Amino acid sequence: MGYFITFEGIEGCGKSTQIVRLAASLRQQGYTVRTTREPGGCPLADAMRRILLDPKSSELVPRAELLLYAAARAQHVAEVIRPALTADEIVLCDRYIDATVAYQGMGRGLDLALIHELNRLASDGVTPDLTLLLDMPVETGLDRARQRNGADNDAEGRFEAESFAFHQRIRDGYLQLAADEVRFCRIEAQGTIDEVEQRITAAVEDFLQAGQTP
Ligand code: TYD
Repeated sequence: MGYFITFEGIEGCGKSTQIVRLAASLRQQGYTVRTTREPGGCPLADAMRRILLDPKSSELVPRAELLLYAAARAQHVAEVIRPALTADEIVLCDRYIDATVAYQGMGRGLDLALIHELNRLASDGVTPDLTLLLDMPVETGLDRARQRNGADNDAEGRFEAESFAFHQRIRDGYLQLAADEVRFCRIEAQGTIDEVEQRITAAVEDFLQAGQTP
């Protein structure tokens, strides 16, 4: 089996940039790396992603939203993540089960026991080996996310339009998960892109070295 590494954090925390960099550095070291993201990662899950992130989906009720994230995940695990891990690849995934706990659980206030059960169903036993939480204050993340959306004028603003308190609950939820689960590593995500990259590289090197110790 390969290694499954997930990236989590609030809007604008810099996950996407850092995943590209980590993938390049691991490939240079000779690893076969698959990068993917949620919601999405394969055509059917991408179709669900379009519904989930479209600002026109404002009528989507929280329970339907939760089920769509779970459905997209089930498809993504079966089509992409499990086959890549079976082929001994390192899978780097932008968001996974913890995003559902943080956003739908802490953010929307849906029942956490139900969310864990749905995560179990959708992930079908595929749990991350390492989860990097890119942590920064909500103010900083939202400023960045708004600049990005303004700059490329994309339509993925449904969550970014939520209140400050919503995003604060998500950050707090992630920090709680990081305190509770050993697979988490909190990365300070303020600083330059290079500084954050160095922190991530160090955490992943530690993880891979530990994994290779007999
Ligand atoms: P994305 O454009 O990937 O956001 P970002 O680049 O900021 O990570 O969109 C993913 C959005 O979906 C993000 O707002 C978080 C949300 N989300 C959930 O609410 N629940 C989930 O289970 C997942 C995977 C994502």
